[in-house]
Amino acid sequence: MSYIPTPEQSLTLVRQYNKEEFHIQHALTVGAVMAYFAEQYDPERVDYWRSVGLLHDLDFELWPEAHCVKSQELMRELDLDESIIRATASHGYGICVDIPPEHIMEKVLYAVDELTGLIGAAALMRPTGLEGMEVKSVTKKFKDNKFAAGCSREVITRGVEMLGTELNTLIAQTLEAMQRNAAMKQPASGDAG
Ligand SMILES: [Fe+2]
Ligand SMILES: [Fe+2]
Repeated sequence: MSYIPTPEQSLTLVRQYNKEEFHIQHALTVGAVMAYFAEQYDPERVDYWRSVGLLHDLDFELWPEAHCVKSQELMRELDLDESIIRATASHGYGICVDIPPEHIMEKVLYAVDELTGLIGAAALMRPTGLEGMEVKSVTKKFKDNKFAAGCSREVITRGVEMLGTELNTLIAQTLEAMQRNAAMKQPASGDAG
C-alpha cells in the first residue's frame, strides 16, 4: 500500500540519500517554508506540505543529471503515494521534467525553492543572519544578477506568476517563514547557560 510519509520519515529518507550538510539544510528549510504556506492555504495538511518540501531534492546529491526523474523511480520503489511523487517532481518543470505545477502546493514549491537559496545566501552576508533582515534588502539582491547567480530569478518570477502574487509578497512570506524557522532552532536568550 502506498503511503504519504510523515516529516520524520521524510527526513530519514533525505538523510539516507544525502550526506552533504548543505543539501540536508536545504531540505529542512524548504520543508519549513512549505509548512508555513500550508498554514494559510491548506491548514489540515501541514505535515504533508512539509514532507513535500523535505523530499523535493531527494535525488539531487547522487543523481544530479537525472534530477526529478530518478526521484520518481526511487519514490515508486519505496511505495510513496503518487501525489507526493508528482508534487516533488513538478518543481523541475521546464528544466528537467515536463510536469507542470498544478496544485497550489506545487506552485508554492516551485516559487520558493530558488528563493530560499537567495535569501539564505543574503543571510550569510549579515552578522545577524536572517534576524532583522528586511524585504527590501532581499529585493535588492534579487535584482543584482551577480549575487547568488545560481538562484534562478527566472524560475522565481515564473513561480510568482503561477501563484498570481507579487514578488515582494512572496519574498515577505518566505523571509518570515525562514526567520521563524531559524528562531525556533535557537534557544531563547534567557535559556542560555
Ligand atoms: Fe531541485
Ligand atoms: Fe531545491
